[in-house]
Amino acid sequence: MLLLALESSCDETAAAIVRDGREVLSNIISSQIDLHAIYGGVVPELASRRHLEVINPLVAEALQRAGVAATDLQGVAVTSGPGLTGALLVGVSFAKAFAYALKIPFIGVHHIEAHIQAIRLEQEVAYPFLGAAISGGHTHLYRVDGIGSYRLLGRTIDDAAGEAFDKVAKMLGLGYPGGPIIDKLAASHDASGVKFPRPLLNRDNHDFSFSGLKTAVLHHIQGLPEPLSGQQIGQIASAFQEAAVDVLTTKILRAAEQEGLERIVVAGGVACNSGLRQRFTALTASIKTQVFFPKPLLCADNAAMIAVAGDYYLSQGKSSGFDLNAVSSWPLEQVSL
Ligand code: KG4
Ligand code: ZN
Repeated sequence: MLLLALESSCDETAAAIVRDGREVLSNIISSQIDLHAIYGGVVPELASRRHLEVINPLVAEALQRAGVAATDLQGVAVTSGPGLTGALLVGVSFAKAFAYALKIPFIGVHHIEAHIQAIRLEQEVAYPFLGAAISGGHTHLYRVDGIGSYRLLGRTIDDAAGEAFDKVAKMLGLGYPGGPIIDKLAASHDASGVKFPRPLLNRDNHDFSFSGLKTAVLHHIQGLPEPLSGQQIGQIASAFQEAAVDVLTTKILRAAEQEGLERIVVAGGVACNSGLRQRFTALTASIKTQVFFPKPLLCADNAAMIAVAGDYYLSQGKSSGFDLNAVSSWPLEQVSL
């Protein structure tokens, strides 16, 4: 099945042409970073307007790069939640109109399901596995038994990991989004004795907390004379990343062990983090548990990932009706076949 896939849940407008939920013919992303950077975070109204401006030319380009005509398409998959309602509505409305005009089916896809299943664009990972969705809005661990089958094992009780990366970067006067900038700084600086707490590390559950870690960084910065030197900023970024990576890797591996899961898929924007990848690789070098990461382009928001579950559902004869709505809050456990 040849699908157009669309993603507009936050600050990237993305379109992809994917065959059989597997073969990516084109996958293009129009980032809005420039638009939101001066505000230090995503401004929902501006995001919706930009999605609206770019979605038509973006889809035209995705088709052109794939060498496909709109009339060749057999379905449309679109993120319908969770995310910013106004932003989601642009993709959902476009998908409906496009599918209606072409008389093809369309399906609303859960953004986090798409992140977790993105790995299938690169390789098969046998079920069950532990799916860790670590992004700007989520730090959630699931037992994954198949597409449409998720059981929540643990989650952040406050901020998402990506949100903490972004907020710490803001405190340090670095740009937005902060994750990639902190990642780069941490790779070239040593924490040199700066150490931050590891919230909930030794708690006997699979939950996370990043708000306390963020506050500890703030108190540390407030205790230093201004302005901070480049060296100090690098040390703090490195110490923060060390704490975040320590908690994430330790608790994810422990959750997999306790649940008897031998495979882990780490997905979402924070899964791009090089420190996190290196640590997981080192920690699993001599144990049976295998850790899989989609390549960075497929970890961050993109549309190809939306096609994986979209193709599966459409192939099962499932599709959305024209009453499909954008849902800002949608627990993954509630998706079903
Ligand atoms: O999955 P994603 O692109 O969008 C959401 O669904 O939220 O994730 C975005 C988040 C942002 O908080 C961003 O700072 C973070 O992922 N991120 C990173 C890295 N690249 C992106 N965090 C840490 N290290 C990175 N290399
Ligand atoms: Zn995402």
